[in-house]
Amino acid sequence: MPVNDDKTAMHTLRDISELRHTLREHRLRGQRIALVPTMGNLHAGHLALVARARQSADVVVASLFVNPMQFGPGEDLDAYPRTFEADQTQLTEAGCDILFSPTVSALYPNGLDAQTLVHVPEMGEGLCGGSRPGHFDGVSTVVSMLFNLVQPDVAFFGQKDYQQLAVIRKMVSDLHLPIEIIGVPIVRAEDGLALSSRNGYLSQQERAVAPALYQTLCSLRDALEHGESVEQVLHRGHTALYDAGFTPDYLELRDTMLGPVTPSTRHAVLLAAAHLGPARLIDNLSVQLPAATNASHQR
Ligand code: PAJ
Repeated sequence: MPVNDDKTAMHTLRDISELRHTLREHRLRGQRIALVPTMGNLHAGHLALVARARQSADVVVASLFVNPMQFGPGEDLDAYPRTFEADQTQLTEAGCDILFSPTVSALYPNGLDAQTLVHVPEMGEGLCGGSRPGHFDGVSTVVSMLFNLVQPDVAFFGQKDYQQLAVIRKMVSDLHLPIEIIGVPIVRAEDGLALSSRNGYLSQQERAVAPALYQTLCSLRDALEHGESVEQVLHRGHTALYDAGFTPDYLELRDTMLGPVTPSTRHAVLLAAAHLGPARLIDNLSVQLPAATNASHQR
């Protein structure tokens, strides 16, 4: 039976010991606990994770913490949108039971520089890890703390942050954490733009351009699925993104474990990050590569 079936009883906890005390009671009752980690400024993408969690657990915990450790120097930590009360309302309506929103000093009492790090090798390198050095150390460190504090049976992450999901899966596997990780499909606006808190940085004009990222990925996916060479398709993609007004950060085709694509790869993922005005947008799409033909040999 869901704990919060009347959708009114969400508890907001800031304190670690209070969280532990509350969850211990649920655990003693044998209840299944789900965790949805977020940085707030919630939209339908986050709420899809909460909805999936609600279906699969007795107790749904969402965390809201704008994690300074995953922002690089010069990134948008200070500007990152903070909409705590609206987030609380949305989580209550989504049937969340516990919102855990600690302060920075509660999670990092000795400061960021003295913090023990969780580093996930390989999976966190290249792509977003290449352009945002240290970003995934910040993510895996805070997520492992949240896992320790909440000790969930299951945790939900969006496929929009494909590399992040892969990093978390590897961390859980490498550290033998008894937590099931569920990836939830990308929630998009009607025009195809992947929902993101950073979309709020876009001007009206930029917002009109933004769906071109997804449209470009769709057209590149179609070309790849028709056997066009990877090199040619990615080259065309870069040009299309520049022409639309983006400054691409990366555009790559990888296998689903983020390894390189080889002639025998069938299931791949096309991943992109691109700057548009003040926002850095990311997106990805899965691609089913055809069996090697003359053209796809060029992979
Ligand atoms: P945040 O960007 O707030 O995202 C929280 C979760 O929501 C992530 O798992 C993300 O992949 C998912 N999400 C965001 N937009 C989505 C969309 N359009 N469709 C589906 N899922 C979406 O990701 C983070 O926070 C942080 O790095 C965090 C994991 C909380 C660690 O600090």
